Amino acid sequence: MAISQSGATATIPTQSTYQNRVADYWNAEKNPVNLELGKIDDLYHHHYGVGDAEWSVLDETDPARRQERITAELHRLEQAQAELLASHLGPLTSADRVFDAGCGRGGGSVVANLRYGCHADGVTISATQAEFANEQARARGVGDKVRYHHRNMLDTGFTSGGYAASWNNESTMYVELDLLFAEHARLLRRAGRYVVITGCYNDTYGQASREVSLINAHYICDIHPRSAYFRAMARNRLVPVHVEDLTQAALPYWELRRNAEHLVTGIEDTFLTAYKNGSFQYLMIVADRV
Ligand SMILES: C[S@@+](CC[C@H](N)C(=O)[O-])C[C@H]1O[C@@H](n2cnc3c(N)ncnc32)[C@H](O)[C@@H]1O
Repeated sequence: MAISQSGATATIPTQSTYQNRVADYWNAEKNPVNLELGKIDDLYHHHYGVGDAEWSVLDETDPARRQERITAELHRLEQAQAELLASHLGPLTSADRVFDAGCGRGGGSVVANLRYGCHADGVTISATQAEFANEQARARGVGDKVRYHHRNMLDTGFTSGGYAASWNNESTMYVELDLLFAEHARLLRRAGRYVVITGCYNDTYGQASREVSLINAHYICDIHPRSAYFRAMARNRLVPVHVEDLTQAALPYWELRRNAEHLVTGIEDTFLTAYKNGSFQYLMIVADRV
């Protein structure tokens, strides 16, 4: 089936029972930790955050103001993560096109567009998310350049070599890495840039820890070991140029979030234990497509 970037014909988004379950999860998802943070400036992220936190927000004595300040601080940290990722995509021009694999409610593509003026195609397996994100892009006045598609990131149907950069921000744990990186390698032009930010289990720990297994069960995902990323990249023409362990930088977000009684989802302590016992790492890998 021939399919263009304009998306006249759509592929069947899910290819397995598992992918149906993932789509159901994200179609139904309405966690305040995603929606309340996004409402602040209409940049909706479904990932965590990096950097030092402003801890004084916890000292706020007025209860309503305290919630408001914690929400804003968590959003600042998640926005910092999106900016960090976007900063590694460039240099890009406004004529370039980027691919946001597993785009959620769309914040990452808008961040890239704001920074570079580029075209962006976001892909999510959730029809609800794609619709929400397109509505946001239209309302922001960037609907001509930033588009979201209800498609499978393993099989987008987009044009080969049509992209200058692509990324996954916390969405690789839902798919087989070889299939995913093969699709990125197909879509990226030569010397195109690929960036991933992900939680991965630490090979030096041995196998996946109890906490990693709990996170998998919580999100219906399958966290890969760190080694799997490099093996799969090497097999798919993606050559790492920069690797950053963001584990320490991720801790303040989780410490703050566990104190945000209006936003907690119950997984906060598991993340903190996993990071602190060395079984789990938060990693950014930047690679060139050769
Ligand atoms: C944790 S969210 C991250 C969203 C986004 N990258 C962000 O940073 O805000 C995971 C996303 O992966 C998407 N996803 C999972 N499996 C997918 C697949 N096979 N194809 C496309 N999207 C998928 C989900 O629909 C969801 O949007």
